[in-house]
Amino acid sequence: MAIVTSTEMFKKAYDGGYAIGAFNVNNMEIIQGITEAAIELRAPLILQVSKGARNYAKHVYLMKLIEAAVADAEQTAGFDLPIVVHLDHGDSFELCKSCIDGGFSSVMIDKSGLPFEENIEITKKVVEYAHDHGVVVEAELGTLAGVEDEVNVSAEDSSYTRPEDVQEFVERTGCDSLAIAIGTSHGAYKFTAKQCTRDPETGKLVPPPLRFDILDEVAKRLPGFPIVLHGSSSVPQQFVDMINKYGGKMPDAVGIPEEQLRQAARGAVCKINIDSDLRLALTASIREHFAEHPDHFDPRQYLTPGRAAIKAMVAHKLVNVLGCDGKA
Ligand code: G3H
Ligand code: 13P
Ligand code: ZN
Repeated sequence: MAIVTSTEMFKKAYDGGYAIGAFNVNNMEIIQGITEAAIELRAPLILQVSKGARNYAKHVYLMKLIEAAVADAEQTAGFDLPIVVHLDHGDSFELCKSCIDGGFSSVMIDKSGLPFEENIEITKKVVEYAHDHGVVVEAELGTLAGVEDEVNVSAEDSSYTRPEDVQEFVERTGCDSLAIAIGTSHGAYKFTAKQCTRDPETGKLVPPPLRFDILDEVAKRLPGFPIVLHGSSSVPQQFVDMINKYGGKMPDAVGIPEEQLRQAARGAVCKINIDSDLRLALTASIREHFAEHPDHFDPRQYLTPGRAAIKAMVAHKLVNVLGCDGKA
């Protein structure tokens, strides 16, 4: 089994009221931290690679590292870990094709910033090529706000998904899953102070709730169809506090409350994307290590606890947010 498409995973997740975690990977320690948690908890997994990750680490390194994780699960735990290798935010047919040709089992074509008809046209082209090669396709309708390496959308340019569009889009493109915009956002600064209220006791920002009314309306129009949530890091405040304590500067970093993601996972949402929380766990751990061991300079000394921090954070998500532990 090993590297699989998400078809079966999503079907079981939809019926079982849980979601699969889609974690972004950029290097060996991140892949190891995530997969070690999934192996221990017997959780199905999506490892996703952005255009920026591919530019940073090279396609072949990431592919071989993921294959190594599958082999390691088999050899050390006797476990056939099902992993989907997914292109995150593919922005062109050529990029999607290159990932399909290079062994990915799933790609996202993200043309949500284009007009409806143009989004349909390019998505359909990717779907035709992908399906011919046994690969599945995620598409997107509606635009999330947020800033990351290759993704940069201002709050004014973001827009919720229109439920009245989803059926026609899915039918005409043939896509296998659909990312929608219901108020999540990319990065560690998901909301401005203006969009939030402030907790009087902690002084922390409290974000506006997700638009479950839109999600319900989409699910009604696409019964049984897997929905994807991007921008779903929760920006755990213990990591933000650690980063700030040990020399970092991340004021007002705020994410999506975990209970709301759990609620989404119980319904039509089958894939939940998490990247920023991996970055925060790793950075908080490394900052703490450097502060406590200023004499250390061997990368293994700080990457070992960094990898462990990722593993612990992912384990928490698999059990308490996604509910996919024991489902592999
Ligand atoms: O949604 C985007 C992902 O978090 C990837 O970010 O483009 O900085 O690798 P990146
Ligand atoms: P976060 O920035 O909330 O982790 O979202 C990641 C994502 O959507 C990757 O596609
Ligand atoms: Zn995303």
